[in-house]
Amino acid sequence: MKARQDPSRAVGHLGLLGGAPHARRPGGYLETMDSATIRERFLSFFGERDHMRIPSSSLVPDDPTLLLTNAGMIQFKPYFSGEQRPPSRRAITVQKCFRTPDIDEVGKTTRHLTFFEMLGNFSFGDYYKADACPWGWELVTERWGVDPDRLWVTIFETDDEARAIWIDGVGVRPERIVPRSREHNFWDMGVAGPCGPSSEIFVDLGDAFGEPSKYGPGEDEARYVEIYNLVFMQNNCNAAIEPVAELPQKNIDTGAGLERTAFVLQNASSIYDTDLLLGMVHTAEDLTQRTYGRDARTDMSLRVLADHGRGTAFLIADGVLPSNKERGYVLRRVMRRAVRHARLLGRAEPVLPALVDSAITLMGDAYPELEGSRDLIVEVAAREEERFGAALKQGVTLLETGIADTQSSGAPSLPGEVAFRLHDTFGFPVELTTELAGEAGVPVDVAGFESLMAGQRARARAARTTEHAEPRRDLFEPLLEEHGATDFLGYEHLITHARIIGIFDGAEGVPAASEGDEVDIVLDRTAFYAEGGGQVGDRGVIQNTSGAAAVTDTRRFVPGLTAHDVTMRSGELKVGDEVEAIADPVWRLGSQRAHTATHILHWILQNRLGEHARQAGSLVEPGRLRFDFSHFDALGDAQVADVSAELQERVSIDDPVRAFETSLDFAKSIGAMAIFGEKYGDFVRVVEVGAYSKELCGGTHVPHTSSVGVVVVTGESSVGANLRRIEALVGHEGLHYLERRAATLERAAGLLKTSPDEVAERVERLLTTQKDMERRLAEVERAAAAAEAATLAHSAVELDGSRLVVARRDEGVDALRSLAQMLKGRLGSSVIVFGTASSGKANLVGAVSKDLTALGLSARDLLAPGAALLGGGAGGKPELAVSGGPSSDRLSDAMEAVERAARDALLAK
Ligand code: ALA
Repeated sequence: MKARQDPSRAVGHLGLLGGAPHARRPGGYLETMDSATIRERFLSFFGERDHMRIPSSSLVPDDPTLLLTNAGMIQFKPYFSGEQRPPSRRAITVQKCFRTPDIDEVGKTTRHLTFFEMLGNFSFGDYYKADACPWGWELVTERWGVDPDRLWVTIFETDDEARAIWIDGVGVRPERIVPRSREHNFWDMGVAGPCGPSSEIFVDLGDAFGEPSKYGPGEDEARYVEIYNLVFMQNNCNAAIEPVAELPQKNIDTGAGLERTAFVLQNASSIYDTDLLLGMVHTAEDLTQRTYGRDARTDMSLRVLADHGRGTAFLIADGVLPSNKERGYVLRRVMRRAVRHARLLGRAEPVLPALVDSAITLMGDAYPELEGSRDLIVEVAAREEERFGAALKQGVTLLETGIADTQSSGAPSLPGEVAFRLHDTFGFPVELTTELAGEAGVPVDVAGFESLMAGQRARARAARTTEHAEPRRDLFEPLLEEHGATDFLGYEHLITHARIIGIFDGAEGVPAASEGDEVDIVLDRTAFYAEGGGQVGDRGVIQNTSGAAAVTDTRRFVPGLTAHDVTMRSGELKVGDEVEAIADPVWRLGSQRAHTATHILHWILQNRLGEHARQAGSLVEPGRLRFDFSHFDALGDAQVADVSAELQERVSIDDPVRAFETSLDFAKSIGAMAIFGEKYGDFVRVVEVGAYSKELCGGTHVPHTSSVGVVVVTGESSVGANLRRIEALVGHEGLHYLERRAATLERAAGLLKTSPDEVAERVERLLTTQKDMERRLAEVERAAAAAEAATLAHSAVELDGSRLVVARRDEGVDALRSLAQMLKGRLGSSVIVFGTASSGKANLVGAVSKDLTALGLSARDLLAPGAALLGGGAGGKPELAVSGGPSSDRLSDAMEAVERAARDALLAK
């Protein structure tokens, strides 16, 4: 996506205007148009021209290469290329969009938003420039009522055709047409796919927004603002976003930001003063008790809250949960940035739940998915704020120290370690750190931060890798060039005849391997499945008449080439040898069972918990599966049991499991689930379980669900923020697990002298009896202690109306403390001193009754002379103190010293 520059002048001008809420722009329209009318007039204009209304697609695109839906055309990608037939060749949408490049700009300016609505009309190989340009003009001037004298048009610099249409077909004055370069007037999605030259209609906002310019939007995008963008979708871009080919048909893709249009048509002083955002600004005002339009810094924070509140609600409604990766990270960034701005404005209590709640209320009519997920959205917002809120203050303190150190030391930037620590310990997205430090004029060493992050990732990886030495990847490249990709036959076969094309001993290629060697063998074809998509690599044997090797793992060090990690068992194998490669059928079947079970589990979780419960990681190995997925809460025992039961029920049915290859677009059109971040080619393999689960998957599966046999969920746990893990045992392992459980139950029943069915009831009864006995024991203990206290009380000496007890009792300090307290209660005005010694350490415990502390006596002072003799100090309060020291042989002297001090004090009181 091209960068949209926001000249800082824009903010300056708005400053001049005062920025009062819903301030009217001087020189604007007499009548203004509310956003519902703007939307309605757009829809009816194109509706009258045979466009089919299509609903907004989700913010989470059905496209693993794209983070979030950032334009109206995203859902139509296959229609532009002609790969798929659209339901109508003319379409209109009001599309939810989220743009991430400018997150840190949002709030600072009055024009940037993360979430916005885009109006768009589309032609899929139907009408083209000659119709699209005049229609765009008519919409803007006649339906939206913008005075044509205020309009400017930009075109791609070489697009003479568009220029001619604007001049001859529409009547635009040539001096109002500005040719611009690729950077401005060529539109792409930011990733590979359809793209094309563009032409935009700009509105001159008038003198309040800057000096007039001879070049209009060519020079100034603050006074001249884009209101409608036409893309002539005729090219395809590669991954480097270079237009590499012509599309088979010519298409039209247009976009008009609804908020931007409202800003123009409502004479608002900024996007935030339109009827679309003002409600959120008011909510932000209410929450922070601040007024918008009085102070530039406050306004910035209020805008952040207004925009991020909307964005948060919409992202969660479309199934995104905060995390440290991908879309989840975008969400986390906006949530945390909003929390920080709320705190800046002095709001200490949670702010996100109320903010998203208000966004739902304000926009729920147009977007029912918000209402439908209200509880979830509010809950997720509350949890994230709770999680981050506590760390924010400490983090800011750490950051402030870091900034001060950087400034005083004259270092050029805040060290990467500080940003790393803020990220690692306090959950500060690095962008937040950069923004905060930037406010103090200090740049952050982001490269240093990145390298620390990379180090952390590498350590985590190292901790996971197997012992088998990894061969150097570059060794394999020439092999791939010479022989091409390994022919994989493992979907149908377990045994193949093959030829050895390479042997590697880690550091280099070798001609042969003999008994005891641990090497990697590459074959021209294989039935061994190489680790991938969570499924572990196959095990087995590679052999011929002269040698045999045990395959301990199968992996791909470079895409396309399968390497068998082997230990030579006997004889010798040489490059060029014909061999038999046999994948272990038991191992493989085990993996297949677990893999099919994983797909079913994924489907069940999505079905029960919602679309957000997407796969985040998976391990599939014989007998066992581990599945990580996004979810904001623990599942709870009952839910886990339900999932486990449904899993077992579904595997017990004899549903077929089928795999087929097809185009990526077709796979997506039938709803096959793709894993975000995985790279898929144009052709993909789809694995279908029964008529319900469809996933893009290269793994191996059982042919019928019933072959999975047994699956038992054995655990559910947290593996990170909003990331849950389910573990399950499959096949024999599942069965053994159940048998072990049953045996344990039998044993317990035996010990309890009852039947397994009665165990729970019996244990309940036992627990009740035990509680009863504990209660009685406590009573007995209390009585014994009271008796002890009575004995000690007898030994008290009376001194001037108070009583003094000094006794040696070799018990723990805690026990003595409570005994002293009890005794004090019994004796009234009193001083109690206990001495105790054990294993080379002595303690004194002293207690003084309240009436005496009121007269100035203090247990701590009384113990002091004794503590000195024990070689330690005394600590505690006037009522109760403890001292201790290593000289346990002086305990009686110490007790005497304390007794003397107590007597003196009591007599002198
Ligand atoms: N896809 C074009 C845009 O987003 C219309 O501006």
